[in-house]
Amino acid sequence: MRGRVFLLGVVAAVAALGSLVWIALTPAARAARASAANGDVKPGREIYVRHCATCHGETGRGDGASAASFATKPSDLTDGRLMNGLPDEFLHNVIMHGGPAEGLSPGMPPWSAYLSDADTREVIQYIRTLATPPFRPEVSGKLVVPRRAPRQPIFFNHVIHAGSFQIPCQYCHADARRSEYAGLPSVERCLGCHKIIGAQDNPEIAKIHDYAKRAQPIPWIRIFKLPEFTYFTHAPHVRFGLACQTCHGPIERMPVVGGDTGPRLSDDLLRLVGLRPAPRPLSMGWCVECHREQNATRGAQAPLECVTCHH
Ligand code: HEC
Ligand code: HEC
Ligand code: HEC
Ligand code: HEC
Ligand code: HEC
Ligand code: HEC
Repeated sequence: MRGRVFLLGVVAAVAALGSLVWIALTPAARAARASAANGDVKPGREIYVRHCATCHGETGRGDGASAASFATKPSDLTDGRLMNGLPDEFLHNVIMHGGPAEGLSPGMPPWSAYLSDADTREVIQYIRTLATPPFRPEVSGKLVVPRRAPRQPIFFNHVIHAGSFQIPCQYCHADARRSEYAGLPSVERCLGCHKIIGAQDNPEIAKIHDYAKRAQPIPWIRIFKLPEFTYFTHAPHVRFGLACQTCHGPIERMPVVGGDTGPRLSDDLLRLVGLRPAPRPLSMGWCVECHREQNATRGAQAPLECVTCHH
């Protein structure tokens, strides 16, 4: 009961805050928001024609008057197969802060000096109407920015590779089906595509060529890691049909990968006072709970004996 009253309080506070924000917006921004909410894309179209069409083209196909001079061509915004997997926040970031904000080429300039937040939402709303097949908001989902994501030697973005271009996870993590490790792609595998794609004007992609010239592997920082005294192997899990995301989260929506994993002191304290927090990813409770459940519900033969996971 007290919980519900508290919850209602929170809801009321959020609602009040929302109307405060609404009042604090300038009239222009308010009008812009209202029109965007109504599905009116005229203001977004005007912004597009003024600032974007010279590169992305009148119809959005990436064939504007200035497009020819770019090594990496302005994106074809009408290609729904590529655009629809990109969450709004991704587009927002690229438009406000330029291509490099998501690892793309600096040929896409930043617009934060010219466009307000509300303008940017308008133009995104307009771009969405250009896509074939049509954009459905429920498919693109939200960006996930995990805690504890390290800075990698190259800004490799899963949202672009796995989300937009939909390259299958196992094309790059090719050992997952047959071995203990999922594995990371070699420099040669990256170059299979990047000998050409982005090679001339994207500094992040230039780094791949530098590693290749020096015949060095890319020193990726490891994220998901169990302690040495445990044994985990990918093959049986993947073959049983567990999706990668069950254990790693929605990687295709993460601009940078991170994992908030392992035991946590605050959970231990909750247990001390008799509560039962859900087991954390990569903790022993997490492995064992899933094994019990899969054995009971799907006839799996997942081990529960100590020695299978500890030897
Ligand atoms: C000077 C040329 C230029 C202008 C002007 C320009 N863009 Fe771009 N834009 C590019 C290029 C080049 C890329 C491709 C970057 C890449 O793929 O590495 C791009 C990429 C993008 C992307 C990323 C799509 C994807 O495939 O991930 C979005 C969204 C975008 N532009 C929106 C806009 C909007 C909105 C405007 C106007 C406010 C605009 N652009 C103006 C050149 C331009
Ligand atoms: C199957 C083809 C393919 C493979 C393999 C591939 N990429 Fe890409 N990559 C792409 C495409 C397509 C783009 C989008 C290019 C654009 O729009 O500018 C891209 C974009 C990028 C970018 C710029 C955007 C971003 O993600 O930051 C980087 C950096 C990059 N790739 C790094 C890599 C690395 C490192 C590897 C190997 C581990 C790799 N790629 C493997 C196809 C591939
Ligand atoms: C084009 C190649 C490519 C594709 C496709 C790809 N990945 Fe990755 N993945 C990488 C690279 C390179 C890294 C290392 C850099 C990083 O962590 O972002 C990585 C890192 C990871 C990691 C973290 C590894 C660690 O150190 O613990 C996981 C988990 C992962 N990928 C899962 C996936 C899943 C799930 C998919 C499909 C939805 C996928 N990847 C698609 C190239 C790829
Ligand atoms: C049952 C849970 C589970 C599933 C399903 C799973 N992983 Fe993992 N993954 C883990 C754990 C646990 C680790 C850490 C293993 C360790 O440190 O020994 C890991 C580590 C990784 C790593 C880094 C180390 C390595 O093995 O190369 C990558 C990359 C990775 N996973 C990718 C994938 C991909 C891609 C898929 C789907 C094809 C997948 N994982 C499916 C649990 C899972
Ligand atoms: C999301 C559910 C899930 C999670 C989480 C999970 N597993 Fe499993 N695991 C399974 C299933 C299902 C099987 C059995 C597959 C079968 O019956 O073929 C299995 C099998 C195994 C096996 C037996 C491999 C073999 O060779 O037969 C080991 C070892 C194992 N898991 C270790 C772990 C460890 C260690 C963790 C935690 C880091 C973990 N698992 C997390 C579902 C899970
Ligand atoms: C399905 C795999 C699995 C099984 C079965 C399993 N463990 Fe673990 N155990 C793990 C993993 C993974 C860790 C490391 C993560 C952690 O500390 O929670 C771990 C950690 C531990 C630790 C260290 C805990 C700490 O706080 O540092 C001990 C001790 C341990 N296990 C004992 C056991 C015993 C005893 C059994 C049998 C009753 C057992 N385990 C069964 C996977 C397993």
